[in-house]
Amino acid sequence: MDHIQGRDLAGKVALIAGGGGIGAAVARRLAAEGCRVVLGDKDGDGAERDAGAIRADGGECMAVAYDQSDEASVAALVQKTVDGVGAPDFAFVNAMDMAAVEYDTDLLDIDMGVFDQTLAVGLRGSVLVARAVMPYLAARRGAIVFTSSDAAHFGEPCRFAYAMTKSAVNALMRHIASRWGPQGVRANAILPGIVMIPRMAEKMDEAIQSRLVAGSRSTRLGRGEDIAAMVAMLFSKDGEWVNGQTISVNGGGTMRP
Ligand SMILES: NC(=O)c1ccc[n+]([C@@H]2O[C@H](COP(=O)([O-])OP(=O)(O)OC[C@H]3O[C@@H](n4cnc5c(N)ncnc54)[C@H](O)[C@@H]3O)[C@@H](O)[C@H]2O)c1
Repeated sequence: MDHIQGRDLAGKVALIAGGGGIGAAVARRLAAEGCRVVLGDKDGDGAERDAGAIRADGGECMAVAYDQSDEASVAALVQKTVDGVGAPDFAFVNAMDMAAVEYDTDLLDIDMGVFDQTLAVGLRGSVLVARAVMPYLAARRGAIVFTSSDAAHFGEPCRFAYAMTKSAVNALMRHIASRWGPQGVRANAILPGIVMIPRMAEKMDEAIQSRLVAGSRSTRLGRGEDIAAMVAMLFSKDGEWVNGQTISVNGGGTMRP
């Protein structure tokens, strides 16, 4: 009986850095588990809409507008979390400028502004969020989860700035896992497959989606809820011995040793 673990998430403070499709699904799940959630996003109105829907369902969620490429703005996000909800136990580092990624072509063709913006939000921004929350996580034996991507190891002819960013996020995650694991902090990265959040649904009609499913190892494409379930597990007591991992949640889209 001593070793029955369970979730034990009620009352914990979870900071979500980057809302949108996957981030909002994670906010909904963590709020449903009883977490006190802060949902940060550059699109403050969108974050407020998602936070309002969570509150209407009885959950606790505060929206904060912030810019992950700006150190002072990231510091303000964390301070607003501490002041408004409490010291964070968990951080989900998820924001990415997906509009810039649309122009992430190849090494010779890419506009270096697109390259810089991709890394500023996804790579340097992830470092900024991790630096700002780490003292709280270390004090509370907390956990951090990054949204990475299978693009980190695919090797694609396009999206190389995106792939570089996600590879670097994996390295950052492993650094945190080994530096702060002995103090009880856990760090992991989730690598989603194709998750049909609203932004993706706008780009892919039913026929394209059916073709993708037909060529996959699953019966459907991903949902934000699939990623949210893994985040909840990694933050929970059940995930207490999972540290330093890159975990693909992709319906079998990639199979790595
Ligand atoms: N959807 C997928 O199929 C998929 C697959 C693999 C990885 N991912 C990763 O999932 C994460 C979430 O993406 P999504 O699919 O939910 O897309 P999304 O566009 O809905 O979410 C990204 C969010 O980041 C926010 N953002 C952009 N720039 C920001 C900044 N400077 N500061 C703060 N917030 C900023 C956007 O406003 C948006 O809400 C990303 O890291 C993405 O790389 C998604």
